[in-house]
Amino acid sequence: MGYKIAVIPGDGIGPEIVREARKVLDVAGKKYGFELDYTELFMGGASIDVNGVPLTDETIAIAKASDAVLMGSIGGDAKTSPWYQLAPNLRPEAGLLKLRKSLNLFANLRPAYLYDELRAACPLRDEIIGDGFDMMIMRELTGGLYFGARHTEEVDGVRKAVDTLEYNENEIRRIAVKGFEIARKRRGKVCSVDKANVLDSSRLWRAVVEEVAKEYPDVELSHMLVDNCAMQLVRDPAQFDVILTENMFGDILSDEASMVTGSIGMLSSASLNETKFGLYEPSHGSAPDIAGMDKANPIATVLSAAMMLRYSLDLDEAADAIEAAVKQVLKDGYRTGDIMSEGCTQVGTVRMGDLIAERVR
Ligand code: IPM
Ligand code: MG
Repeated sequence: MGYKIAVIPGDGIGPEIVREARKVLDVAGKKYGFELDYTELFMGGASIDVNGVPLTDETIAIAKASDAVLMGSIGGDAKTSPWYQLAPNLRPEAGLLKLRKSLNLFANLRPAYLYDELRAACPLRDEIIGDGFDMMIMRELTGGLYFGARHTEEVDGVRKAVDTLEYNENEIRRIAVKGFEIARKRRGKVCSVDKANVLDSSRLWRAVVEEVAKEYPDVELSHMLVDNCAMQLVRDPAQFDVILTENMFGDILSDEASMVTGSIGMLSSASLNETKFGLYEPSHGSAPDIAGMDKANPIATVLSAAMMLRYSLDLDEAADAIEAAVKQVLKDGYRTGDIMSEGCTQVGTVRMGDLIAERVR
């Protein structure tokens, strides 16, 4: 079987981590009998340099015509990069937001779990870690504050800025349905996170989630206010299975959850629409400070590639093999600098990719 994959290496460490993910995918393809036909696309800063804008219509069209998109990371150092002298709608991040919206990628899955082998990297105390934790943050990705009307003005010499947090019930329902479906395949628990004690959008969110819950009597639903959730994530992360939340809360909570695992360089993500199509990228950023130095941890991108095989291409066996290979590499004591601990062998980006590929083969 052959599949069309749009690849967006992006900026910073993006190109080098995507290279390793492709290396692993190609080995998996040989073993499991599939072929990936890659088209490399520019986005973010890389696209600004070539096209003057962070995302072109042509790039969107090619992405749309593919079976899935594999992405590295975008963006540069906001203090030093010329990209951040541009108007906000022309900066690298605007390209990513436009791509999410154009491809209707409303469901963002961000798994956060503790690898047994990486317990030492977890910043929480041992008694809080307990037997470990494994949660899935389901973040709404194409609505809310990110896409509501915004403007900045000056009224009588006073500067003023407005952002709008808007949701309609259909936008809430479709992400809730995805959340319950995914919970069914996991431990059957959804915790819906909102700020219903203050926000109208959250009160609607809660009401619609409760309606959807009626269709899933086998899934246990709870509600939590976002400030409490931020606290519970460091107090008792094991209580969570699926966390279902709106765009901005999900942005913040997913960074927190990944930090709690101690290894943000390990965490993958998938952004899905109503079909099998999805965009797959690591949860971490473009780390311009270590770009091109063979220091970046490619594992989050490799695992994102595995998610792509599983969710968009139905190649579960190959996805399992990649995930098992990553676990085996950790068991064998290999670490990139970000997850290094005593007694392990430190390796660079390329070597880590080779080690994983060898274990898939
Ligand atoms: C993320 C990032 C993006 C977001 C930025 C780069 C616009 O933080 O994917 O979490 O806020 O969604
Ligand atoms: Mg973020």
